[in-house]
Amino acid sequence: MAIERTFSMIKPDATKRNLTGAITKMMEEAGLRVVASKRVWMSRREAEGFYAVHKERPFFGELVDGMTSGPTVVQVLEGENAILKNREIMGATNPAQAAEGTIRKTFALSIGENSVHGSDAPETAAQEIKYWFSDTEIVG
Ligand code: PPS
Repeated sequence: MAIERTFSMIKPDATKRNLTGAITKMMEEAGLRVVASKRVWMSRREAEGFYAVHKERPFFGELVDGMTSGPTVVQVLEGENAILKNREIMGATNPAQAAEGTIRKTFALSIGENSVHGSDAPETAAQEIKYWFSDTEIVG
């Protein structure tokens, strides 16, 4: 399996509870390497643009409210099978359905405050990395 990159976010519900280090540790222990990282406070415009694919969904306003309510740590993670590996360690979107030992089972509060985001496919990973990072900010 080739080395791959994925995009990750540690969401405001988690940064507000000072969980950035604990969540990053779980990613690193799973074999993922942080090759880019920055802390941003998203504007509504940035959050709406990032989640544009969900704009017709009933929870869109709530999602944008949550993502603009505090700092987010945006990251690029690198490793073997990084996209799938990160989705596995994140756990299900709804923490009530997340497996034991996953980030969401351990830390998430609800489906709207589910602590992390991770790209779901190579195409979205490339788009999402580009949305937040320039090439020179990624240091492998
Ligand atoms: S997924 O991962 O696309 O299959 O999940 P989905 O259910 O389609 O949700 C897409 C993103 O929307 C978030 N979400 C919500 N936010 C706030 N309130 C409610 N009720 C809600 N339901 C879903 C969910 O966490 C997904 O965010 P990301 O950042 O992509 O994981």
